[in-house]
Amino acid sequence: MERVTLVALLLCLSAGALLVQAEDPYLFFDWKVTYGTIAPLGVPQQGILINGQFPGPRINCTSNNNIVVNVFNQLDEPLLLTWAGVQQRKNSWQDGTLGTMCPILPGQNYTYHFQVKDQIGSYFYYPTVGLQKAAGGMGPLNVHSRDLIPVPFDRPADEYNVLVGDWYTKGHKALKNMLDSGRSLGRPDGIQINGKSAKVGDNVEPLFTMEPGKTYRYRVCNVGLKTSINFRIQGHPLKLVEIEGSHTVQYDFDSLDVHVGQCLSVLVTADKEPKDYYFVASSRFIKVPLSSVGIIRYTNGKGPASPELPPSPPVGSAGIAWSMNQFRSFRWNLTASAARPNPQGSYHYGQINITRTIKLVNSESRVGGKLRYAINGVSHIDTPTPLKHAEYFGVADKLFQYNLVKDDGSAVNTPAPTIAPSVVNATFRNFVEIIFENHEKTIQTYNLDGYSFFAVAVEPGTWTPEKRKNYNLLDAISRHNVQVYPGSWAAIMTTLDNAGMWNLRSEMQHRAYLGQQLYFSVLSPARSLRDEYNLPDNQPLCGGIVEKLPLPAPYTA
Ligand SMILES: *[C@@H]1O[C@H](CO)[C@@H](O)[C@H](O)[C@H]1NC(C)=O
Ligand SMILES: *[C@@H]1O[C@H](CO)[C@@H](O)[C@H](O)[C@H]1NC(C)=O
Ligand SMILES: *[C@@H]1O[C@H](CO)[C@@H](O)[C@H](O)[C@H]1NC(C)=O
Ligand SMILES: *[C@@H]1O[C@H](CO)[C@@H](O)[C@H](O)[C@H]1NC(C)=O
Ligand SMILES: *[C@@H]1O[C@H](CO)[C@@H](O)[C@H](O)[C@H]1NC(C)=O
Repeated sequence: MERVTLVALLLCLSAGALLVQAEDPYLFFDWKVTYGTIAPLGVPQQGILINGQFPGPRINCTSNNNIVVNVFNQLDEPLLLTWAGVQQRKNSWQDGTLGTMCPILPGQNYTYHFQVKDQIGSYFYYPTVGLQKAAGGMGPLNVHSRDLIPVPFDRPADEYNVLVGDWYTKGHKALKNMLDSGRSLGRPDGIQINGKSAKVGDNVEPLFTMEPGKTYRYRVCNVGLKTSINFRIQGHPLKLVEIEGSHTVQYDFDSLDVHVGQCLSVLVTADKEPKDYYFVASSRFIKVPLSSVGIIRYTNGKGPASPELPPSPPVGSAGIAWSMNQFRSFRWNLTASAARPNPQGSYHYGQINITRTIKLVNSESRVGGKLRYAINGVSHIDTPTPLKHAEYFGVADKLFQYNLVKDDGSAVNTPAPTIAPSVVNATFRNFVEIIFENHEKTIQTYNLDGYSFFAVAVEPGTWTPEKRKNYNLLDAISRHNVQVYPGSWAAIMTTLDNAGMWNLRSEMQHRAYLGQQLYFSVLSPARSLRDEYNLPDNQPLCGGIVEKLPLPAPYTA
């Protein structure tokens, strides 16, 4: 059973005068991860459950809470969960990627301990090993503002998490075998909404209910493997209020695109005729469209939802232009107070000089007949010893070579990608510009762990330095995930002020698995606990390179 305890620790220290220091509250969770039968598309299949649930339990917390999650792996394969979007200040040790920690072996458990420091917003956690994400193991993570911090909208009557995504009925092991044998995943079989799917006219239980006159917050995340989703609610405008931790300028939308790995919040007011309405989720940018509906019921409702669904946005190149315009309309509400990750500088990010520009170009190729994906011609592979551990113990050279990826986006079209661990050495506190250029025919999304970044531009064509003139240097959304449309580029900016080994990956799970990811190594020269925590005591070592080495001298205050 899930155990949630809230403990506020008060440390009272007396040194002549009495000094009282309140530590931030702790939330404790025990999670059992098992297989179990689920049927998101109506076809029973093996799923990955957390405490018997799919989607998994919600972590509902407040800025600065300490989150302690003891994860018991009862699968028959290694497991890691990542907390994408949680910035893990000083703490890449808990990031849940194979470059930063050893996987939790079957029958073992590991206790994650992290803090949602100075942030708010809608996120979700999910498994990172292999194709486990195709089987579940994910759930919502909501971070609320602290009580005294005003939020730029009235407290909603309730909050509903919607985890929506493409879905395959094949199962994660079959999908992984397909990739391992060189084949592609093929088309998804459908779209699931919170573990269910339905079509118009199906007699199904409502997803959510709303009381007439009240306003609800829907936190919608795309938890799928590779398909962008558009969502809409019959007859109800969606008031956008938050994207991945930034309060936005509030506009009403008829429908919103949410790309793989992204989350956003909308407010919906139940002020229409009391009956059922469809929540519609449909695929974007794929040839054979997929969709699914769920029912939203007024508590005093009389009558079924109308079979007429609100229209989908345009498809093809018009659809890309539509989606790009929607992205450009997103603005950060600069006057809304909220926890800000980098209070001292990045608020005026447009005035900071760029110290480094890194252009990253994705590519697909076949190596020995097998599919690989790469960034700047380097197709990442995970190592048995986590990259972070090797670096911490001072034996990085036994495992990987820094900077195979060049900053200028070159080496993309060498005959074949270099298949190797990909680590970019970055300078602590540099303000960097990262350009993603996508020459492929499919949309990409990228996730950066450890940071939020300003998504300053998403444009068609190829990037040149002159394009900087059109960046949004005032009120771009600060977030952790950005989409790059086919034949397009995206620009992001961030201050690399969080020391650690941080994963930048395609959020398309098959692409990340087959190499489209890298790590930024950001080390503080000070070796100080002010900048980075030490290797946690409970963290196992693995892979054969570091286990017998003496523990490095710990970082000190
Ligand atoms: C989630 O957390 C917020 C902030 O602490 C709280 O107001 C709300 O009641 C919580 N919701 C649930 C369902 O626990
Ligand atoms: C595994 O769970 C036990 C029992 O709850 C706990 O005492 C132990 O610290 C956990 N191990 C790790 C590595 O977190
Ligand atoms: C921005 O936030 C402020 C402060 O909470 C709020 O008063 C204002 O209405 C918001 N502006 C928009 C356009 O959403
Ligand atoms: C940024 O660069 C410009 C031109 O090189 C220089 O004049 C200015 O002082 C720099 N600003 C900061 C804040 O370093
Ligand atoms: C990484 O960059 C830092 C600072 O720029 C530099 O001091 C260090 O030598 C570099 N390390 C490697 C392995 O290139």
